[in-house]
Amino acid sequence: MIILKNSNQIGKMRDAGKILYEVLTEVKEAVKPGVSTEELDELAEKLIRKNHAIPSSLNYQGFPKSICASVNDMVVHGIPSREEILTEGDIVSIDCTLLYDGWQSDSCVTVGVGSISEEAAKLIRVTEECFFIGARNAIVGNRLGDIGHAVEQHAVANGFQPIRDYTGHGIGREMHEDPSVYNFGPAGRGLRLRRGMTLAVEPMIVTGDWHIRDLDDGWGVKTRDGGLCSHYEHTLAITDNGLPELLTLPGFTWEEAT
Ligand code: MF3
Ligand code: CO
Ligand code: CO
Repeated sequence: MIILKNSNQIGKMRDAGKILYEVLTEVKEAVKPGVSTEELDELAEKLIRKNHAIPSSLNYQGFPKSICASVNDMVVHGIPSREEILTEGDIVSIDCTLLYDGWQSDSCVTVGVGSISEEAAKLIRVTEECFFIGARNAIVGNRLGDIGHAVEQHAVANGFQPIRDYTGHGIGREMHEDPSVYNFGPAGRGLRLRRGMTLAVEPMIVTGDWHIRDLDDGWGVKTRDGGLCSHYEHTLAITDNGLPELLTLPGFTWEEAT
């Protein structure tokens, strides 16, 4: 069931999104060689709580931390750990969801640790481009499949592949609501997009093959072939006046996007 939000509710999601943007910006700046993913988690939790919000991932279906930190060939749901020390050349995605005043916000960014390979830098750049190219299809009258089709096309045109086993999603009072937002598939298919839909669009893009394997910690997911994965996510609202509002990127205007 898709739950449409009115402008008052979207206003609350905007407040949550602004906090998440500030949290992620600060956590991103803490990424350096020698830092553990646990330290990033502790910083995120501290900042979330300082802003009177709640870390949604903590204890979500038993997940033990406030962020997912996924390094190199980790696709999603990396559990932050004191033993996992970032080293120069790594890439790490920081995926964070928080609850503020009853409303969820979800965003992820992938950053390089120190200086990274050309391939890794291209992967991060193309994944962000995939997001913006996909998200600009989140307009009234389009269909859900238009988003995923645009993401897939841009990834493949650059020699990369979208992950097929994980998707974006609706978001609101719950972290995960209907519908699933695929990062691949045909254009012109799927449900018609409407004003008041709030979606987390989150391309996960890999340098190699899209097949994944589950780790035995019950959470971590890696690429089967060891290829790198980059992940970029924002929570957005479909408006009745053109392009979507990126709730986790306050101040953003579409003129500045590729
Ligand atoms: N932030 C994730 C998403 O984009 C979900 C987090 S799973 C959790 O949907 F277990 F870590 F909470
Ligand atoms: Co997320
Ligand atoms: Co999400």
